[in-house]
Amino acid sequence: MSEKLRVGILGGTGMVGQRFISLLENHPWFEVTTIAASPRSAGQRYEDAVGGRWKMDTPMPAAVKDIIVKNVNEVEEVAKEVDFVFSAVDMSKDEIKAIEEAYAKTETPVVSNNSAHRWTPDVPMVVPEINPQHMDVIKYQRQRLGTTRGFVAVKPNCSIQSYAPVLTAWKEFEPYEVVVTTYQAISGAGKTFKDWPEMEHNIIPFISGEEEKSEKEPLRIWGEIKDGVIVPADDVKITSQCIRVPVLNGHTAAVFVKFKKQPTKQQLIDAINNFSGVPQELKLPSAPKQFIRYMEEDNRPQVALDVDYENGMGINVGRLREDSIYDWKFVGLSHNTVRGAAGGAVLCAELLKAQGYITAK
Ligand SMILES: NC(=O)c1ccc[n+]([C@@H]2O[C@H](COP(=O)([O-])OP(=O)(O)OC[C@H]3O[C@@H](n4cnc5c(N)ncnc54)[C@H](OP(=O)(O)O)[C@@H]3O)[C@@H](O)[C@H]2O)c1
Repeated sequence: MSEKLRVGILGGTGMVGQRFISLLENHPWFEVTTIAASPRSAGQRYEDAVGGRWKMDTPMPAAVKDIIVKNVNEVEEVAKEVDFVFSAVDMSKDEIKAIEEAYAKTETPVVSNNSAHRWTPDVPMVVPEINPQHMDVIKYQRQRLGTTRGFVAVKPNCSIQSYAPVLTAWKEFEPYEVVVTTYQAISGAGKTFKDWPEMEHNIIPFISGEEEKSEKEPLRIWGEIKDGVIVPADDVKITSQCIRVPVLNGHTAAVFVKFKKQPTKQQLIDAINNFSGVPQELKLPSAPKQFIRYMEEDNRPQVALDVDYENGMGINVGRLREDSIYDWKFVGLSHNTVRGAAGGAVLCAELLKAQGYITAK
């Protein structure tokens, strides 16, 4: 019998679910034992349910091919087989909120890739290098849900990962006004060029809901727990434009920043290169050794060359220079479906295990 924690993937047949399954192949702590999806897929072998929809570069792990897919809505059936679940279902926000809480109430922790609970005041939204202390709010959430073990934790949106960690590394210089334009990959919409041929040689200047997330989510990450809820920070203003570009994986951000305390270029670069957090201290299995790296070359970071830095878990920064209107400007790049989605959630789960929030049932 394996001593690994038994993991269920809700929405395991979808693009993010497939990424979870790929990342968890040979994971030292977690083993995918259960996969759930819509009633359309339930009852089929995983390999058959996915059919031609496998979107990963690596082959489907042999260990999951014969798992019989369950119906996400049969909560007790799924919950009894697992120690915790990752959630990547695509349903309405209200349905996702309800189903994630239903799993939590069966005493099954839920680590979610979805946005539904990102603003639920007692749900932690965590980038493990930035705000691991927000997991402390789980005790208040458990009181509300009436659970001893179950809870929901979420990771933030993929778009913020290319700049929010950088601004965090620069906190001592007090950034207070930020303008960001993101250039977002099509995999962020769950698509490849095969499913979305209109994106070849094209740019679409709209991604529904993305600008609000890009402006507000960093403030919640920088917030504090007060009276059992997370109160967002209010000392930084962010304005954004989010643009879909013909790139498969990798969100780029072009960012302008004003600081209250004027740093030198070298201070900013050192702060980036030296920034690390609890995942690095604890050597969590998915933690990048270096979270953020600064690249000196004028033509970096590039999606084609740099998106897979630290197995897609690291953040790339370049083109840091003084600006004539703002103080400094730079370009950031991160992997939207690894650090920005499933990989970020796996790192959250590793942190939760290390902190004692996720245990064997
Ligand atoms: N793609 C990204 O990079 C990304 C990034 C951040 C957040 N997200 C969010 O993550 C979620 C999943 O995204 P995705 O791109 O992986 O979507 P997807 O490829 O369309 O997969 C959706 C998954 O949800 C299941 N599902 C759909 N309708 C359902 C229903 N009514 N009841 C139960 N299960 C249902 C599907 O099962 P069947 O296969 O049986 O239909 C499939 O497993 C979405 O909420 C999306 O907004 C995606």
